[in-house]
Amino acid sequence: MKLLLLGNTGQLGWELQRTLQPLGVVVGLDYPEVNMADAASIRKTVRECRPEVIINATAFTAVDKAEGEPELAEAVNGSGPGILAEEARRLNAILIHYSTDYVFDGTKGTPYLENDLPHPLNVYGKSKLAGERVIQSVDGKSLIFRTAWVYSLRRDSFVSKVLGWARKNETLRIVDDQISNPTWARVLAETTALILARAGDNFLPWLAERKGLYHLAGSGFTSRFEWAQAILQNNPDREEQMTTEIRPSLTSDFPTAAQRPLFSALDCSKFEQTFALHLPDWEVALKLALDSFDDSLKRVK
Ligand SMILES: NC(=O)c1ccc[n+]([C@@H]2O[C@H](COP(=O)([O-])OP(=O)(O)OC[C@H]3O[C@@H](n4cnc5c(N)ncnc54)[C@H](OP(=O)(O)O)[C@@H]3O)[C@@H](O)[C@H]2O)c1
Repeated sequence: MKLLLLGNTGQLGWELQRTLQPLGVVVGLDYPEVNMADAASIRKTVRECRPEVIINATAFTAVDKAEGEPELAEAVNGSGPGILAEEARRLNAILIHYSTDYVFDGTKGTPYLENDLPHPLNVYGKSKLAGERVIQSVDGKSLIFRTAWVYSLRRDSFVSKVLGWARKNETLRIVDDQISNPTWARVLAETTALILARAGDNFLPWLAERKGLYHLAGSGFTSRFEWAQAILQNNPDREEQMTTEIRPSLTSDFPTAAQRPLFSALDCSKFEQTFALHLPDWEVALKLALDSFDDSLKRVK
């Protein structure tokens, strides 16, 4: 299998660069080698590589910054994936693309299903929804995985931010009215690789039969407040931790450029039934993520 991985230095892309290796030849690229805001750059990259599977882990993910740069967010998240889908169809290749819980407005009150009506509240969510729609309109062999609250310990994420704040503050105030599924980038990458492995030698028809839109995020859901509590309970760097108290607060206490959905948890049953795989419970994955960090820290200390 020849795989083209775009965005290989991002949270998810960095993990995919590792988990995809046993499957075949992996060509991993990121900006500026490929620019998802530039159709010519995307076409050239795909035509030179001639992959059988394209995995797009690129995105303009800075949710607040996107409010001030809507054209760039739209180009990277909205138009670029459409060009990729056209190029994939030209080669008869599979395209795997990721989207977000932020396509929803968060008013449903129970976990969202794939056929619930999207209604994004911010530029990032609108641009990601545009990306989904353009891929669907190209009608190639595409799998779109909507995920949520992705974290890793490599890059700036909610988990790394909470660990950083805990080193400097006795009290943290964290919102308890934003709820979704924390998703460790590593298990999302591993699950993507497992699907490809399960597809076997006949992967083209196998994946083409299952093309479509799926929700794929950490099992269970929680608030940012409870998530922060769990992060500190499992803090691998406890000696450095100053925080002794976390107080719940409201999203409205912290005005941000982008409005965020309050309850955007995803129901992943369709994915689980189709692929007989699931992401671990968010608390289990968090513990595994922080344990792996602890282990590496101990080895270098
Ligand atoms: N992070 C979340 O909480 C979250 C939640 C729901 C869904 N998702 C989705 O999950 C996927 C993976 O997210 P992630 O957290 O791994 O994202 P990430 O860490 O921000 O990585 C995105 C990658 O895309 C690259 N990129 C940005 N603009 C580009 C351009 N014009 N051309 C080529 N590459 C470009 C980035 O490069 P630079 O670092 O150089 O900018 C980075 O390597 C995305 O589809 C995202 O929308 C993420």
